[in-house]
Amino acid sequence: MIADKFTEEAERSRALGIALAFISFGSLAGLPKLPVPPLQQTLDMYLKCMSHLIPEEQFKKTKPIVEKFGAPGGMGEFLQKKLLERSEHKANWVYDYWLEDMYLSNRLALPVNSSPVMVFPKQNFRSQSDTLRFAAHLISGVLEYKSLIDGRALPVDYARGQLAGTPLCMDQYNKVFTSYRLPGPKIDTLVAQKSTVMPEPEHIIVACKNQFFVLDVVINFRRLNEKDLYTQLERIRKMADIEEERLPPIGLLTSDGRTQWAEARSVLIKDSTNRDSLDMIERCLCLVCLDEPSGTELTDTNRALLMLHGGGTDKNGGNRWYDKPMQFVIGADGCCGVVCEHSPFEGIVLVRGSPSKLVRAASMSELPAPRRLRWKCSPDIQAVLNVNSHRLVKNLDMNVNKFTGYGKEFIKKQKMSPDAYIQVALQFTFYRCHGRLVPTYESASVRRFQEGRVDNIRSSTPEALAFVKAMANSSKITDAEKMELLWTAIKAQTNYTILAITGMAIDNHLLGLREIAKELKLEKPELFSDTTYATSIHFILSTSQVPTTEEMFCCYGPVVPNGYGACYNPQTDHIIFCVSSFRESAETSSDLFVKTLEGCLKEMQDLCIKGNTEAKPTDSTEKMDGNTKVMKNGSKS
Ligand code: COA
Repeated sequence: MIADKFTEEAERSRALGIALAFISFGSLAGLPKLPVPPLQQTLDMYLKCMSHLIPEEQFKKTKPIVEKFGAPGGMGEFLQKKLLERSEHKANWVYDYWLEDMYLSNRLALPVNSSPVMVFPKQNFRSQSDTLRFAAHLISGVLEYKSLIDGRALPVDYARGQLAGTPLCMDQYNKVFTSYRLPGPKIDTLVAQKSTVMPEPEHIIVACKNQFFVLDVVINFRRLNEKDLYTQLERIRKMADIEEERLPPIGLLTSDGRTQWAEARSVLIKDSTNRDSLDMIERCLCLVCLDEPSGTELTDTNRALLMLHGGGTDKNGGNRWYDKPMQFVIGADGCCGVVCEHSPFEGIVLVRGSPSKLVRAASMSELPAPRRLRWKCSPDIQAVLNVNSHRLVKNLDMNVNKFTGYGKEFIKKQKMSPDAYIQVALQFTFYRCHGRLVPTYESASVRRFQEGRVDNIRSSTPEALAFVKAMANSSKITDAEKMELLWTAIKAQTNYTILAITGMAIDNHLLGLREIAKELKLEKPELFSDTTYATSIHFILSTSQVPTTEEMFCCYGPVVPNGYGACYNPQTDHIIFCVSSFRESAETSSDLFVKTLEGCLKEMQDLCIKGNTEAKPTDSTEKMDGNTKVMKNGSKS
């Protein structure tokens, strides 16, 4: 676990295991390089993935375009050769292209649109000191965790689930506390601090009442212990309470569109006070945001909303700095979690944490006072702050649902991959809500390869469509036939997953071909200006599995205006679904989606119970009782 006992509250937070790790650490020598898939394989799969998602007429136009691209001696072959050359001299041929495309060139605001959050269980703080003790304990855990990263003492991660057992790239861990996403007028930059032989004094930024304070956590080469951290946090809290010293909520600028923020930043840095303040934030380890009570009932859904956008300007929306990868949020009302800037890493995992061997400093007799960051706001900046709207807050439609009908154990007993099963259920749900399937993104880790991040499992397979059509439309189809179609859909999904995690999916490859053509200043190949390609990357359904070992959950917003974000957390006997969409879209509704999903999961369970001859026999008498299977021994499966 991450720290010693300090107080009862600290012990409670410790029980939560709240130390967050974000995948990867120091390049793992010996990991293979990400392969470049064969060109023809990708093109065939592209056609297969899109044929049933677009009108027939459109497909008739697209097919010859793709064939021309892939013809012997054609543009595709040339670009493929160039990609293969690139892969020889890069650790990962797609990484830079992918980072720019996925994150840095995206101009949308980070909150909701890009930054995922982890929502912690609600805390019961009885007083302000409870909150600050929790914060001190959390910071202490973070510092300890950072020491493990710096000391390269984290054990290597190994793959679980499909193709379990292979070591995973640990590169991303290094970026957790050292990166900063700098806004740019056209494209952002992911700045990485280089570690120095003599590390600089380290600090975190504490946000409180929209003010930003520097909290040095290493003083005279000694790391502050929890008691000292608590003392400093108390001092910060008092400073934040002085109304006459309060400065405008500059953090709001970081929740704006990236181009707008870049423009505002270029105005800010003209002043040396602002430059110094920005520098302190950009070089900090992380933020700790001490939030005011939100005045909202803290349901799972509301906590997810508050974590995603802070509740707007009249709540804690300005108490953030979204460019920094890690913002730990500690609300006085017990609403806690972490907001992540996604570009440096993904896949939030809990550290079950080994005890640190590092020596902690004794309390220091004299601690230097924390400093408030100062800002000089020109009228231009003031004007931007004033117009910063509530649109994001009003627009986000979120539903966090704990599906208790069954969990991954039931699915495993069907001899099916739980992930594939859930993906098919999501397709079924979308079909039932909208009468069609759409290009779907499921993130698949490619950390088996050097500098691997993710590729896409396109879950809206033709096999899934055949199954959902049978389930949704026809009473003429027998259960046995439906079961057969479910198996085919599950197998197709599982096969795609294996392709993706072994570096053979199509999205990164197509992106690579597109980008290398651009880099070589060639005319854009028709394949990439074709409507079908635009449709193929407009991910109306954006999904991701983020399993946790503790009672917490991850969520994020949709990636397109008319889409859904669907993050799920499969557990033994239940599954948490976090579904998001935008209220401004007349097509979507998170509540409807979740309600439909529950029904679809139930129907799939019924079908399996009636007809899955492959299901693992158990020595228990299984009897359906509503949503619950009652086992012989009385436990629920
Ligand atoms: N019969 C019985 N059990 C099966 C099975 C089958 N046919 N197929 C799989 N299982 C078991 C697995 O062995 C595994 O067991 P475990 O719980 O003991 O580990 C479990 O079911 C889960 O496997 P599965 O559901 O197939 O999924 P997975 O764990 O392989 O995950 C991905 C699949 C795609 C989600 C995963 O490979 C991945 O890439 N994850 C990263 C996603 C990501 O990046 N998220 C963060 C984005 S910010």
